[in-house]
Amino acid sequence: MIDTGNQLKVPRPDPNFFILREDLENLQRFNQMSEKHPVNILTTGNQGCGKSSLVRQFAYIHQRPMATFQVGLLLEAGQLFGQQRLKDGETYYQEFLFPKAIRTPGCVIHLEEINRSESPQALNELFSVLSEDRSIWIDEYGMIQVAPGVIFFATMNEGESFSGTDEMDEALKDRFYRIHLEYLPHEVEREVLIRKTRIDGSKADQILKMVNRIRNNDQIRISVSIRHSLMIAELVAMGASLREAMIYSLQISKDALESLLLSVQVETGETEVNRAEYVLYLRNS
Ligand SMILES: Nc1ncnc2c1ncn2[C@@H]1O[C@H](COP(=O)(O)OP(=O)(O)O)[C@@H](O)[C@H]1O
Ligand SMILES: [Mg+2]
Repeated sequence: MIDTGNQLKVPRPDPNFFILREDLENLQRFNQMSEKHPVNILTTGNQGCGKSSLVRQFAYIHQRPMATFQVGLLLEAGQLFGQQRLKDGETYYQEFLFPKAIRTPGCVIHLEEINRSESPQALNELFSVLSEDRSIWIDEYGMIQVAPGVIFFATMNEGESFSGTDEMDEALKDRFYRIHLEYLPHEVEREVLIRKTRIDGSKADQILKMVNRIRNNDQIRISVSIRHSLMIAELVAMGASLREAMIYSLQISKDALESLLLSVQVETGETEVNRAEYVLYLRNS
């Protein structure tokens, strides 16, 4: 099974989700536009920068049911639509969530990691439903027509390219409007950390100072997403030091981190040292 959403439900809101006003306004336009003709939107940006959250929030705001499909996991054609199954010696065709979702008026179909798909055939099927006529022939049950108002949102991690054939890439991309998400500006990300983890402003500033230092450092080739800064803030909110929080949240070489921390320690006055003390790990320790 490929679907991860399982049911066709309107997603729950994130009351602390920030978006660029311009993006908001254009999302309203896409929403209106979808009443007249099919709309596909490609959301790009670094991993953990809010792409999936944006799709969910859009669906919530417009009270549309939503279903998410991991396109990156598709291995062959047909995997989205259904499967021949065997029961009591009889074969029958079991329909998956995808055909149901695309026949649900107004549904938001989230195609996650469309760039990671290993299967050109599976992409071909998607290509049919994303094209102008919005229909696809499936031998097992005939013509499937995309319902009115359905919006396709594909998300793609920036920097990675489509893995299918080149013509396919261009042809696919051609069919999408595009929203590109950047990291949030310091002040906004600060607000997100405070609202979501309840840390105080000065702690949030310290975290973001470190985080932005890594983001702006070309030598350290790791990306620190909003997801990461939230993970760090959550640990700090639970009493961890900045150093601990970063070590346990980031995939960063210890050397690189230590030198970063050193430069920040001076400024924050954090005077902790790394004592390698071993203790027993028991129930009451
Ligand atoms: N603009 C934002 N406002 C508030 N929280 C955000 C924002 N962008 C990302 N986040 C938070 O960061 C985390 C990762 O976001 P997600 O949507 O899963 O990223 P992506 O799909 O790009 O990998 C989530 O917990 C999300 O709530
Ligand atoms: Mg995502």
